[in-house]
Amino acid sequence: MKQHKAAIVGYGGMGRWHREGICKTDRIDFIGVYDINPARMEQAKKDGIPKLYDSYEAMLADKDVEVVVVATPNNFHLPQVCQALESGKLTVCEKPVAMSSAELQEMMDCSERTGVRFTVHQNRRKDADYLEMRDAVEKGLLGEVFEIESRVTGARGIPDGWRQYAVAGGGMMLDWGVHLIDQMVIMMAPKKVTDIYCELYHVNYKECDDGFKMIMHFEDGPSVTVEVGTSHFISAPRWFVSGDRGALIIPNWDCNGRIVRAKEHEVRWEEEIIYTKAGPTKTMAPRAKDTIENIELDGSLWHADYDVFYRNLADYLDGTAELLVKPEETMRVMKIMEAAFESDRTRSVIKCNL
Ligand SMILES: NC(=O)c1ccc[n+]([C@@H]2O[C@H](COP(=O)([O-])OP(=O)(O)OC[C@H]3O[C@@H](n4cnc5c(N)ncnc54)[C@H](O)[C@@H]3O)[C@@H](O)[C@H]2O)c1
Repeated sequence: MKQHKAAIVGYGGMGRWHREGICKTDRIDFIGVYDINPARMEQAKKDGIPKLYDSYEAMLADKDVEVVVVATPNNFHLPQVCQALESGKLTVCEKPVAMSSAELQEMMDCSERTGVRFTVHQNRRKDADYLEMRDAVEKGLLGEVFEIESRVTGARGIPDGWRQYAVAGGGMMLDWGVHLIDQMVIMMAPKKVTDIYCELYHVNYKECDDGFKMIMHFEDGPSVTVEVGTSHFISAPRWFVSGDRGALIIPNWDCNGRIVRAKEHEVRWEEEIIYTKAGPTKTMAPRAKDTIENIELDGSLWHADYDVFYRNLADYLDGTAELLVKPEETMRVMKIMEAAFESDRTRSVIKCNL
């Protein structure tokens, strides 16, 4: 018998994902759904979900429900999270938690007033490729890291539906930027971001950004490039990290990659110039093979344990753990995204202390 009970508002792609995750836990039962779209309610019925509510209010009035998961488009997060908190339900909100820092502040105020907590589904903190890169950096395999490039790119445009509309909180900064920035901020803590430059892409969509490229500097380094694209027919590597003793590349999500690192810091300069097809060079000639080592990365040490999020919820309900993702952390990311929008608008570097 599972002790805790959860219900979901918004039974689309992410709603169904949460259902699977919750069902896998041994302590949280997944009992009900409300979705505004009858076809999604029909799907919920087919999936055998016990309680199909007629309205969100009916779901919140159900005394059995302890946890509410909000998995609707971004413009509904603020009202639905606050309603759930007012009803005394521990609330999980999908990312981006809100469409602005002002909205998030309203949620935090509501949580403070009601004494009910909420958390945010920043699941990509558990992505295997991210953990693999982070482990190499934190073990010092690259020496002092001075640049991190984090990219996700595709060539299919923005998916149909609400992601294409500003009123719904569409665009790739809010959709993907929120994950990639969150990964960096968590990794670099307690370092703060001191300046941000960003250009939004509007390759095929005017209303919402269909990608962006931003550079943010953390105090005392590194410089971090984050790029998201939906019109990139050839993808740049998922991760490309440079340190003063080595570099790491992870080309894509299959987590295969490699580290090339110096065996010794001293460099021997050969006298001769290297002649390449493109022209002669001395500075850019490769290092002698016996001064470097290659480490192959195959992802085998890492797997994305997304279920830790739901286990943590159960632990929180049992009173044995703090929530893994705290609203204050997402506030930082929200403000960094706002600075990025301002940078794009003003075509300038935004100085900050975030
Ligand atoms: N964490 C992640 O990796 C991840 C991945 C994808 C989406 N998301 C987030 O999840 C949320 C939902 O995205 P999605 O891809 O599942 O979208 P979706 O369009 O597949 O599903 C949204 C569902 O919400 C329903 N809905 C819309 N307005 C509603 C309302 N007022 N009340 C009740 N139901 C309503 C829709 O009918 C639909 O079934 C977004 O905030 C998105 O950013 C997170």
